[in-house]
Amino acid sequence: EEIQLFCPATIANVSCGFDVLGLALASVGDTMIIRKKKKPGITITKITGQDLPLATENNVAGVAGLAFLEASDYHGGFEIEIHKKIKPGSGIGSSAASAAGAVVGMNILLDNPFNFTQLTTFAMQGEKLASNVAHADNVAPAIFGGFTLVRSYSPLDIIPIPTPTELYATVVHPQIEVKTSDSRKILKNTFTLSQGIKQWGNMGGLVAGLYTSDYNLIGRSLEDHIIEPIRSILIPEFKKVTDSVKETGALGAGISGSGPSIFALSKGKEMAKQVAETIKTIYSKTGIDFDIHVSKIA
Ligand code: HSE
Repeated sequence: EEIQLFCPATIANVSCGFDVLGLALASVGDTMIIRKKKKPGITITKITGQDLPLATENNVAGVAGLAFLEASDYHGGFEIEIHKKIKPGSGIGSSAASAAGAVVGMNILLDNPFNFTQLTTFAMQGEKLASNVAHADNVAPAIFGGFTLVRSYSPLDIIPIPTPTELYATVVHPQIEVKTSDSRKILKNTFTLSQGIKQWGNMGGLVAGLYTSDYNLIGRSLEDHIIEPIRSILIPEFKKVTDSVKETGALGAGISGSGPSIFALSKGKEMAKQVAETIKTIYSKTGIDFDIHVSKIA
């Protein structure tokens, strides 16, 4: 028995929601094949597209799978094949796609013993291996789809949030690797009350905008007063790109996850494509190689 899955790339933080907000891209992602086997344990049989560890305990899909097996009363095992399209270190949830894909596939093959929140806890173990922190803002949208809010980590409480139908994401990945663990190290542990006031105002505004399909409110709320000012120094042309895409007509823009990718949200596919052109023009002049994706959120 086997299953083939699409494992979506994800944008974590979405500006104002560090470690709690994330979204899944409908058309950017990896493919995984999971096979149910009598032999206990998890075997990673093949990885294409990227050079990643095959040893189960060193592989994010393997570790997430082991957490699943430990909680399950199934005595058999699984084989996993991963076909990577998402580059590790790109900031669009490469490790999350593999960790989430493994546990979603295994769950389906066992007739869904676990709910999506339980699957998120298993996939978080993969994130812990990848970045030393079991953050859920990539794995939750990869598992639930669309936008998700991690309302609480303890106990884990994931709230799926509706996605306005015309919302599109443009994501540019400049080909420099920024490790999540490194871009977390540079963050400060404290922020001021006035930063907090701006941040949770935007956070509430973004969630309200998503619920009511108020594109203008979504755009006004895409601001980060705490993390982005620190991390943006790692990203080439960050200010130029975010300012220019807003002039083009994007609702807003920011760092995708821990970077170096930059995302922009737009109303409509045409605008998202125009935004991609604006970014291409800027990045072509830098000499840095880059990938650009335009995708619906789902
Ligand atoms: N919330 C995490 C971070 C996401 O910003 O470090 C990493 O993709």
